[in-house]
Amino acid sequence: MLTLTEVADDPSILTRRLALNDASEVVFRPLVRTDADRLAAFLAALSPESRRLSTFDGYDLATAQDMCDALARYDKLRLVLEEVPSGRIVGLLEFSLDLHPEDVTRFLEAGIHLAPTDCRFGPTLADDYQERGVGTRVFPLVTDVARRFGRKRIILWGGVLADNPRAIRYYRKNGFHLAGSFTGADGLRSLDMILDLDSRQG
Ligand SMILES: CC(C)(COP(=O)(O)OP(=O)(O)OC[C@H]1O[C@@H](n2cnc3c(N)ncnc32)[C@H](O)[C@@H]1OP(=O)(O)O)[C@@H](O)C(=O)NCCC(=O)NCCS
Repeated sequence: MLTLTEVADDPSILTRRLALNDASEVVFRPLVRTDADRLAAFLAALSPESRRLSTFDGYDLATAQDMCDALARYDKLRLVLEEVPSGRIVGLLEFSLDLHPEDVTRFLEAGIHLAPTDCRFGPTLADDYQERGVGTRVFPLVTDVARRFGRKRIILWGGVLADNPRAIRYYRKNGFHLAGSFTGADGLRSLDMILDLDSRQG
């Protein structure tokens, strides 16, 4: 089973080249320490709507630097999609290998016992890469990463906003099912969804 330290030491373990539907290519790879400037450019370019749907602590170099400095220090595994040949970061795919106690409680209320073999996942694509099938194209690589870390199920990191029909459709078509709903501290309604990797091929 892979560890975060192994990935930080050798990011090539999880690096793959991926052909998109329009025959262009992206590289799927772990975030590395030297990505701060490129990650900052990705965050800064996110539209207000993307920021509403996928919220980060900030959208500047300091936030990007924090993410790059956190490699293998906590439970987070961050992967990026890199455009070929420009090298621009066009997607950020985040895993948390630890569960949040609030998630455990909420899922329990829905009759689902989360376990240490579960993980949390959240995707964000650059605005010009959304709704082109890229998220679905990359999803087998996402499930492969989860499996290689010994995970059996994936839940959504922070849920998905109930008024984000595209993401809900995206998760459903990639095998997630609805586990419940909740109202966040911001007063917004979100849905919990879960994917059982044993029931999904690839
Ligand atoms: C969510 C996200 C990762 C999905 O990746 P993607 O590459 O855009 O998704 P795909 O193109 O593979 O699939 C989107 C699906 O939603 C459908 N869709 C688009 N708008 C929709 C809408 N308003 N209502 C319902 N379905 C919609 C598309 O038709 C497609 O389904 P189909 O293949 O059956 O036609 C990406 O759109 C994104 O980064 N969005 C902004 C941030 C975000 O919302 N992140 C998730 C936070 S929980």
